[in-house]
Amino acid sequence: MRLPARVRMVEVGPRDGLQNEPAPVDTAAKITFIDMLSAAGLPAVEAGSFVSPKWVPQMADSDRVLAGIARRPGTAYPVLVPNMKGFEAALTAKVDEVAIFGAASESFSRRNINCSIAESLERFAPVAEAAARHGIRVRGYVSCVLGCPYEGDIAPEAVADVSARLLAMGCYEVSLGDTIGVGTPGRAQAMVDAVAARVPREKLAVHFHDTWGQALANILATLERGIATVDSSVAGLGGCPYAKGASGNVASEDVLYMLGGLGIATGVDLDALAAAGRYICAALGRRPTGRVAQALAAKLPENKQF
Ligand code: HMG
Ligand code: MG
Repeated sequence: MRLPARVRMVEVGPRDGLQNEPAPVDTAAKITFIDMLSAAGLPAVEAGSFVSPKWVPQMADSDRVLAGIARRPGTAYPVLVPNMKGFEAALTAKVDEVAIFGAASESFSRRNINCSIAESLERFAPVAEAAARHGIRVRGYVSCVLGCPYEGDIAPEAVADVSARLLAMGCYEVSLGDTIGVGTPGRAQAMVDAVAARVPREKLAVHFHDTWGQALANILATLERGIATVDSSVAGLGGCPYAKGASGNVASEDVLYMLGGLGIATGVDLDALAAAGRYICAALGRRPTGRVAQALAAKLPENKQF
């Protein structure tokens, strides 16, 4: 299959990236970070989560973050909501998009959102209905599509089943999450094909974590299978609090550099994106993990040796 001419990049750093930080990140820094990301031309910047602050304290200020950002026309700012309580809070924060997040693994579903897969779908249905009434777009996530920290291998049919249910509920797209980053290109293609046998391929996105260093290869492999929406996290931030050992998402700078090299349009400016990554890394007191971010940083005037 031919590669897509254009890819939609969904930046998940301010949510998937920061949710796993050991210390809370200053709300003002999150706002500046998100504004830098949208100014880089990203079409979607996941801005937070309306989940229990006892479960994920790092996202407890999502309402203030949403109130503080400068909403750029052309950028969507989705937030995660696990139930109606989260949806009501998201509505109050005037969000334009919510994401409901299920899993293909029963054990992960219980650890992450404290209910079975079937129960999670029952909780998501009223959220999708209410969102439709309010004209709010709904994105779906399926976690553990290529492996689970508690159950090991996951059958592609289980991924296809949850994806089909989320789309039937009204999600405009389902993001397939390799939450623990164990997938390899052949398995990623087989999984996408199994899901695409049940739902339209153009409604699928991929969401790779880079724990085993396979994320870029997996993305390229799934682009070859007709995927044209890719989640990533600037500076390679991230991990999941309920998936021990899962390292960060694939770095957005690495994804963008690869797409640019392939001649695939994104509308995103690499230097501006990398600057946003350096900004948040300075706030967190660390270095970006992505290779492109490091290569770009080495070329900055203050780092030139000669
Ligand atoms: P629970 O304890 O079963 O919920 O948690 P509950 O309904 O029994 O309520 C317990 C308490 O939570 C109550 O408060 C509720 O009011 C409160 P209390 O009376 O004890 O003071 N509560 C809420 N508070 C704020 N917002 C809400 C909300 N709902 C209930 N929406 C629940 C169930 C889903 C709430 C909990 O398990 C939870 O918040 N989990 C969050 C999990 C999470 O955010 N995980 C990370 C994101 S998923 C991910 O990273 C994967 C992804 O990136 C894809 C990939 O990588 O594969 C998306
Ligand atoms: Mg994730």
